[in-house]
Amino acid sequence: MSKEIKIGVFGCDRGLAYARLFANEDAIEMVAFCDKKEDRLQKAMERFPGIPGFASFDEFMAYGKEHGMNAVFLANYFHEHAPFAIKVMEAGMAALSECLPASTLKQCCELVRAKERLNGKYMFCENYPYMVGNLELTHLCHEGTLGTVMYLEGEYNHHDGPSDLYARSKGKYHWRNWEPRCFYLSHSLAPLMMMVDGIPRYVSAQAAVSQIQKEMFTFRAISDGMAQMLCKFDNGSVARFSGCNGIASGYSAYRAFGDKGAAEWGGQTNRQVRLNYKGWTCPPGVPDLQYYEPTRYVCARDPRVAKGLSAGHGGSDYIVVQNIIAYLRDGVEPYFDVYKAAAIAATACLSLKSCMNNGEMFKIPDFHSEEEMKEVENDDLTPFYDDEGHGGTYKPSLEYTPDQFDRVGVYEG
Ligand SMILES: NC(=O)c1ccc[n+]([C@@H]2O[C@H](COP(=O)([O-])OP(=O)(O)OC[C@H]3O[C@@H](n4cnc5c(N)ncnc54)[C@H](O)[C@@H]3O)[C@@H](O)[C@H]2O)c1
Repeated sequence: MSKEIKIGVFGCDRGLAYARLFANEDAIEMVAFCDKKEDRLQKAMERFPGIPGFASFDEFMAYGKEHGMNAVFLANYFHEHAPFAIKVMEAGMAALSECLPASTLKQCCELVRAKERLNGKYMFCENYPYMVGNLELTHLCHEGTLGTVMYLEGEYNHHDGPSDLYARSKGKYHWRNWEPRCFYLSHSLAPLMMMVDGIPRYVSAQAAVSQIQKEMFTFRAISDGMAQMLCKFDNGSVARFSGCNGIASGYSAYRAFGDKGAAEWGGQTNRQVRLNYKGWTCPPGVPDLQYYEPTRYVCARDPRVAKGLSAGHGGSDYIVVQNIIAYLRDGVEPYFDVYKAAAIAATACLSLKSCMNNGEMFKIPDFHSEEEMKEVENDDLTPFYDDEGHGGTYKPSLEYTPDQFDRVGVYEG
């Protein structure tokens, strides 16, 4: 079978997890790697002999162009995906972007406009919606057994110790050292969007400081340990979800509540799905309350899930790869297209503003509307820097109070 998708991998840490999956696919040929960190590039080339690596993005793209590369998987820095995704589309290749799609409202507009202007190909490669439990909750929401799904919750907890986080965020200006917790929200928000087929339109957020982080994570500029968002979706449902929370809970969890039934998984359900009805809303022959392991049902509905169960993040990385193939080979539009991607990124940007303003509610632009984009197209506030310490326009305070806007963090690494 011919390899229709000729892919380059940009960023060789997270990128290598996907490279391992690309290597198993008949439809995909890997063309080149790019990483400016020598050790990471070396590791990629050793793991995949014969595939060249480049430290320079321009050289990587030039080589790719000469060798038929038609897609780039973007696993570069969290806050720099949009500008590179635009360059990739300008080169006539498909941009496949890890989280976050963009780190300012201005970038969100630029990304959407570039996709439209170039008639390019863009996919946001968010994986958490494709975990087995989330696929089951999505199925329950869509099939109607829960009734009108009015309220959802998504909780993504990732509690790193100081040495773990320090190891993953080397360099004073590495994005993980400057990232407010609310920015890493796609793992908790995107699954909920898919469950109710909704797009966030309004957001209010709050964050809290962790004393341990303040004292021990001195390489981080801010010490927020958690952030929680409340959103209204375009279809009327309400969702509450976390950022990447450093709370010591040990699990992530998702819930969907309707007027006939409710379903959840993760957390206290211990990876089982808990499905309950309320007496009169119970379908015939079904118990009021049941706990079940969803894997066999999800696999029966989608055999791709069965094939990928051992892949990273509960098999969800494998489904992302299958969605890439479906998009680029078979023309199936990705669920997380550029408009949903921009809405997710805008929710992150506005959540930070909300945290800094005592939970003020902000309207999230509809990125299908030029008029709404015009209102935010020049908003380039960002807490992130480039490697040399340039670019940060917004310095969230250690304590999240507006009067401390200008505090810059300490770094002892
Ligand atoms: N979906 C998930 O479950 C998941 C898991 C881990 C990471 N991620 C995402 O993957 C992305 C990368 O994170 P990471 O953990 O791999 O760490 P990272 O951000 O440190 O790695 C990015 C790599 O890209 C390289 N890079 C960045 N800009 C470059 C440039 N201009 N030229 C050449 N090389 C460049 C860096 O040298 C670095 O090795 C982030 O967006 C992160 O959110 C997603």
